Amino acid sequence: MSFRILGTGKSVPSYVLTNDEMATIVDTSDEWIRTRTGIRERRVCTTESLSDLTTEASKLALEDAGVSPEELDLIICATFRGEYCSPAQSCIVQRNIGATCPAFDVNAACSGFIYSLDVAAGFFARKTVKKVLVVAADNVTNSVDWEDRSTCVLFGDGCGAAVLGEGDDLLSVNLKTKGDLDSLVIPHGENTFPKYELGSQRPTLRMNGREVYKFAVGAMSEGLEKAIRDAGVEQEDINFVIPHQANIRIIDAARHKLHIPEDRYVCNIDRYGNTSAASVPIALDEINRAGKLKNGDLIAMSAFGAGLTSASCVLRWNK
Ligand code: ACO
Repeated sequence: MSFRILGTGKSVPSYVLTNDEMATIVDTSDEWIRTRTGIRERRVCTTESLSDLTTEASKLALEDAGVSPEELDLIICATFRGEYCSPAQSCIVQRNIGATCPAFDVNAACSGFIYSLDVAAGFFARKTVKKVLVVAADNVTNSVDWEDRSTCVLFGDGCGAAVLGEGDDLLSVNLKTKGDLDSLVIPHGENTFPKYELGSQRPTLRMNGREVYKFAVGAMSEGLEKAIRDAGVEQEDINFVIPHQANIRIIDAARHKLHIPEDRYVCNIDRYGNTSAASVPIALDEINRAGKLKNGDLIAMSAFGAGLTSASCVLRWNK
């Protein structure tokens, strides 16, 4: 027993920060950002808090699932940095939606949604839950150095959520961690905004882009290959691949190592940039709400992030 997905939701900030506006903040250009990353614009929290995003996405996922907050047996929030050190972000969601169940956070950076699905699967396997909300959100723009063009252009804010019920639709999952403090570090800092006016006065995200790039291509291609093999299906059987939206070149490089047609890859990086843990569930919600998914479809997901963590899984859609 694992679970089936009953509903999905997403929430993104209203402010759209385009590449052209980004070029007024740091020495960059729309052309550089588009050709090196595939990003055209991203959403940035200006008036919204992480709690606003997580609450809205959770309510939408519950509505899509036809599940009331009182029915939830567990809430897991994937985030590298909730709005408070404590209480956990999931506790704020529980309070805001009117649920009464246990709630805790999982920090696996951008891989957090898939890690949380696997944690939830354990509760279902022990038969201690019937309905679980997994909500994944990060306010990455609050952690970047808005004077460092090599990182600040890459990220955006957002939240994605899924409500899970009893079922057998998680066919395989493959989690990995390679403890590392050199490639990508996101230190603690205060929760104030607008962040990009604060410059580099705070501890901010530091990344060796080339190292992360190399790690990411291997983690994504090998992770997907193993998850698909473990699910007992062929690569050609996969209907949708939802890759972490960090850089279109990473997705393309991983894709070239696999045998899944290009049109099965879900990509929205042009509109959101890298939204960390929210990236995979936002894309899932978009294809769900666009009516692209039909029962029986196989979805492969893959993510990587600070840690360095990586995670891949195969799910059957059966809503
Ligand atoms: N605008 C213009 N020029 C830039 C910019 C910018 N925004 N950023 C860097 N450059 C310059 C550099 O200074 C460098 O100039 P130089 O040749 O004169 O020294 C040149 O562009 C090339 O820089 P590279 O770093 O080699 O560029 P690259 O093609 O490797 O792309 C990038 C950099 C986009 C960061 C890429 O390495 C990447 O995507 N890495 C992976 C990042 C990632 O996936 N992170 C995941 C984080 S997930 C999480 O857990 C939060």
